Amino acid sequence: MAFGALTIGHSHPKLLNGLKERLESGTILGFEYEGSLALAKLVVKIYGIDMVRFSSTGGEATQAAVRIARGFTGKKKILKFEGCYHGSHDTLLVSIKPSIGKGGYYKHPVPVLAGPGVTPSTAEDVIIGPFNDTEAVTKIIEKNYNEIAGIILEPVPMNMGLVPPKKGFLETLRKLSDEYNIVLIFDEIKMGSKLYGGVSEYYKIKPDLMTLGKAIAGGIPCR
Ligand SMILES: Cc1ncc(COP(=O)(O)O)c(C=O)c1O
Repeated sequence: MAFGALTIGHSHPKLLNGLKERLESGTILGFEYEGSLALAKLVVKIYGIDMVRFSSTGGEATQAAVRIARGFTGKKKILKFEGCYHGSHDTLLVSIKPSIGKGGYYKHPVPVLAGPGVTPSTAEDVIIGPFNDTEAVTKIIEKNYNEIAGIILEPVPMNMGLVPPKKGFLETLRKLSDEYNIVLIFDEIKMGSKLYGGVSEYYKIKPDLMTLGKAIAGGIPCR
């Protein structure tokens, strides 16, 4: 099931017909075209958001979200959670599945590079938090808010095996982000299409940026 991307399975006739129509009328058109507008309107309606920007992969989307957070706040560091995965760009290839013994103290994990090709300077720009530990994460944010541009997380991490957020966890991230001028990013690349309106609608917490992908088009890049 392609890590959850194939919510309607392989080769569903509707998907095949849509793809055929798209191929016949052109695939890469340079800029967005009228079909992108129709899609953007649908995304805005379903997910209750204000604006949409398209990218070709989920990794591009999370990279763009990080850049926006840095540009908007003028700060540099990104708070990322141990166990969450956001794509294969270097910026967030840290502490995805660190081996036991390397991650440090569980309440304040140290950044663990995903592999030898990721440079140590990558780790300087991220702070790692323990998912679902509201108290520990609050301490980390209160200590480092001057440097934190954005907080990125899978609000229900499928990459850890579908872990629901504990009561108060997302609420606290929202509150602290508002208080300390931090951009809150929900990475719903996987979960966004499992619930109508996404995780944010389900838990009634609005992030500043939401990344969607994979499953919203049955595993096909769409725009
Ligand atoms: C939560 C999450 N974000 C981002 C990505 C990256 O998406 P892509 O593989 O389209 O670059 C993935 C990929 O599995 C993901 O699970």
